[in-house]
Amino acid sequence: MGLPDNFLWGGATAANQVEGGVLEGGRGLANIDVLPCGPDRKKIAAGTMKMLEWQDDYFYPAKRSIDMYHRYMEDIKLFAEMGFKVYRMSLSWSRIFPNGDDQEPNEAGLAFYEEIFKELRKYNIEPLVTIAHFDVPLHLIKEYGSWRNRKMIDFYARYAETVLKRYKGLVNYWLTINEINILLHQPFVGGGIVFEEGENHEEVKYQAAHHQLVASAIATKLAHEIDPKNQVGCMLAGGNHYPYTCRPEDYKEAIDRDREGYFFIDVQARGKYPNYALKKFEREGLNIVNEPEDVEALASAPVDFVSFSYYSSRTVSAHSEDYEQTTGNVFATIKNPNLASSEWGWQIDPMGLRNALNQMYDRYQKPLFIVENGLGAVDQPDENGFVDDEYRIDYLRQHIEAFTDAVEIDGIELLGYTTWGCVDLVAASTGQMSKRYGFIHVDCDDEGNGTLERTKKKSFYWYKKVIETNGEDLTSENLAIPEKQAVG
Ligand code: BG6
Repeated sequence: MGLPDNFLWGGATAANQVEGGVLEGGRGLANIDVLPCGPDRKKIAAGTMKMLEWQDDYFYPAKRSIDMYHRYMEDIKLFAEMGFKVYRMSLSWSRIFPNGDDQEPNEAGLAFYEEIFKELRKYNIEPLVTIAHFDVPLHLIKEYGSWRNRKMIDFYARYAETVLKRYKGLVNYWLTINEINILLHQPFVGGGIVFEEGENHEEVKYQAAHHQLVASAIATKLAHEIDPKNQVGCMLAGGNHYPYTCRPEDYKEAIDRDREGYFFIDVQARGKYPNYALKKFEREGLNIVNEPEDVEALASAPVDFVSFSYYSSRTVSAHSEDYEQTTGNVFATIKNPNLASSEWGWQIDPMGLRNALNQMYDRYQKPLFIVENGLGAVDQPDENGFVDDEYRIDYLRQHIEAFTDAVEIDGIELLGYTTWGCVDLVAASTGQMSKRYGFIHVDCDDEGNGTLERTKKKSFYWYKKVIETNGEDLTSENLAIPEKQAVG
C-alpha cells in the first residue's frame, strides 16, 4: 500500500512568472511580457484588446518577476533541501528563438537552461519541462497573427527539435503546451491571439487549437525519435464539472463543459478528433482546415502520459443564469454551496481531485501526472519574516490524501505531484505577487518592490517531511523549524 517508491514529488513554476531578465541574454519579448497589471489585463488576455508594446502607464510584472534568471542556483538549492525528486519548469520560447522565426537559436538562451538542468541533476532532481507555457514570441504575433497561422506549426517544431536535441540526456520528461484548453478562454494568454474586426472568434480559436495540436504531435514524435527514453505528456487545465442539480439537462451541460477541455486531450492521447468536436464544427459552420498530413501527424504520436493542473471543480447548469456565480477568474461557474472558497473565490474541493483522476484514467488508460495544485493566499510574515502558513498545509494535505486514495483505493496510475508555485511567483490571472503559492516566501509586492530575499515558510519544513516519508506523514507537528528563518 501507499504511493510507489519512485513517486515524483516536487514543485512547479513557469518561465514568465519567475525569470524576469526579459531583455537579457539576447531574449526577445513574448505575449506574456506585455500583459500589464490593471483594469485592461482581462481584456488583453481575452484577445479583445490589442496592446503589443510596453506602455508607460502600466506595470508589467514579468519584467523582473522574482528574478530567477539570476537566482536559480539559490532556488534549486532550496528545492533540493525539501527533497524534490522533480522540478517542473518551462522554457521561454523567445529566450531561445528571440523572434520565433529565426533560422538559428540564441546560444545564450540555450546555455542558460543547460546550466539549470545540470544544477538540477547535481541534486538528482528530474526536470519536467514545459516547452510552451503561455508563451509566444511577440514577433510571431505581430508578423503572423500567432497560432491562427499554419506557419506556427513549423516555428514551434523547429523550437521543439532544437531543445529536444540540445537537452538530450539532461531532460526526459516533457510537456508540449501548458493548459492547452486555456486557448478557448484566454486566447492571448494561451495562444497569442488578438482578434481582428469581424472575425468569427470560435473559428479562430479552434483553428489555432488545431495548429497547436498538430505542433504538439510533431514534437511528441520528434521527442521519441531523438531519445526513446523521452516521456511526453499533454497538459490540461483540469477539474470536472458537476451538474448543479440532478436534472438530466444539467448533467448533459456538465458533460458538454467537460468536453471543452477533454477535446484537446482526446486528440493528444488518442490521435484523432472526437466525433462530438466534428459535429460541433459542422453544426456551427466552423471551417477548420485539417490537411491530410495533419491527420497523419496527429495519429502518429499520441502522448505517453496525461498531465493536468487542478485547483477546483466547477459547477454548471443548463439554467446557469438562475444561480450565483463564483468570482473565480478563468472558469467562472456556479458557486457550489458545499465548498469553501479561497480569498480569490476559487472553490476548494480535494475530493474533486480524486474524481478528476478517476475520470481521466477511465477515459485514457494512461499514466497521469498532477503538475499543478496549490492555494493562492495572502501571507503575513511575522516580525522575523516567518510565515506560518498552516492554511496552505491544510489545503495541500487534503489534496494529497485525495490523490493517495485515488492511487491506493481506485488503482490510478499516478507518476507524480508538483505543487504550483513552489517558490512565490507572479500570478498568471491577475499579475499579483500577493497571491502566493510558495513554500518559499519572496520579498516582493504587487508593484514589484522588495529585496527579493527568499525565506522558508512553515510549509517548507512540512513538505520536506512529506517527501521524506513518501506521503505517509502529513502532520504538521514537530517540524524541524530552526530559530533563524531567513535563507540569505
Ligand atoms: C494555471 C497556470 O492556470 O494556474 C499557471 O498554468 C498559473 O501559470 C496557475 O499561475 C494559477 O493561477 P494564478 O492566476 O493564481 O497564477
